[in-house]
Amino acid sequence: MTILAIESSCDDTCAAVLRAGKVLSSVVSSQVEIHGLYGGVVPELASRRHCENIRPVVEAALAAAGTGIDMIEAVCVTRGPGLVGSLLVGVAYAKSLAFARGLPLVGVNHVEGHLMSPRLTNPELKFPFVGLVVSGGHSSLYLVRGWHDYELLGRTIDDAAGEAFDKVARMLALGFPGGPAIEKRAAEGDPGAFKLPRAWLDRDKFDFSFSGLKTAVRSVLERSRTGVEQERDNGFISDLAASFQEAVCEVLVTKTLAAAARCGAGRVALAGGVSCNGYLRQRLRDEAENRAVDCFFVPPRFCTDNAAMIALVGEWLLAAGRIDDLTLNPGSRLPL
Ligand code: KG4
Ligand code: ZN
Repeated sequence: MTILAIESSCDDTCAAVLRAGKVLSSVVSSQVEIHGLYGGVVPELASRRHCENIRPVVEAALAAAGTGIDMIEAVCVTRGPGLVGSLLVGVAYAKSLAFARGLPLVGVNHVEGHLMSPRLTNPELKFPFVGLVVSGGHSSLYLVRGWHDYELLGRTIDDAAGEAFDKVARMLALGFPGGPAIEKRAAEGDPGAFKLPRAWLDRDKFDFSFSGLKTAVRSVLERSRTGVEQERDNGFISDLAASFQEAVCEVLVTKTLAAAARCGAGRVALAGGVSCNGYLRQRLRDEAENRAVDCFFVPPRFCTDNAAMIALVGEWLLAAGRIDDLTLNPGSRLPL
């Protein structure tokens, strides 16, 4: 079956074509140059830009796959969670296409797309596995027993990991999106330079909290401004970025591996925009190796928002006979 998938839950307009689990094309139109001016995603601007982008992005995905619309047999679209104005553009476009061409339509959960995305390039990833989804909107750990069979083990009680990267990058004047900017600066810094807090919360649970860490970074910055700590030179910012990245990664890696041990899962998979982070990957790889746990990742283009992951889940939903009708509506807080 040849599937067209559309993803527009936040600020990227994405379309992909998938056939029998194989990605034929995946096109992403980023809006980073617009939102970068404001230091974060502006919902109204995002939905307007989706309206302009959606058609050319779908056409580009079809062209890159070497398929015409006539060869598409089903349409999948992100239903939520996300920004409702952004989701509406993708859902309305997908419904129109499905109606006009008489194709089956399937709504897909965005977080489920991220969670299963490691299977795009690792089809050998077997169940059960522990999946960590770390993005701008989510930091959640799941036990994945099978397709559509998930148990939420823990989630952030305040900021998502990517949100913390973005907010700290803004404090350090490193630009937007913050994750790649912090990773770059952190590579020049000392991760042990500042003692920043780790929120372990209840050691027996797998919830996360990053807002205290963000506040701690702010207070280091403020102390430095009053000259109590040390001069704020380039080394200072790099050290602070490295210490922050270290604190986030230590908690993510420790909790993910503890969850795998608790669930008796010999496999962990990392997904979402923050999983682009090379330091996080290396740390997870090293510590998992010590515990004889296998790690799975996807290339960065499938970590950040993309429609290939939506197509992958949609393909399974279609095979399971879960088809939506034209009453399909976005759900900004759609649970998994
Ligand atoms: O998955 P994604 O594209 O969108 C959401 O669903 O939220 O994730 C975007 C997030 C942003 O917060 C961005 O700063 C973060 O992923 N990110 C990174 C890196 N690349 C992107 N965080 C840390 N290190 C990176 N290299
Ligand atoms: Zn996402």
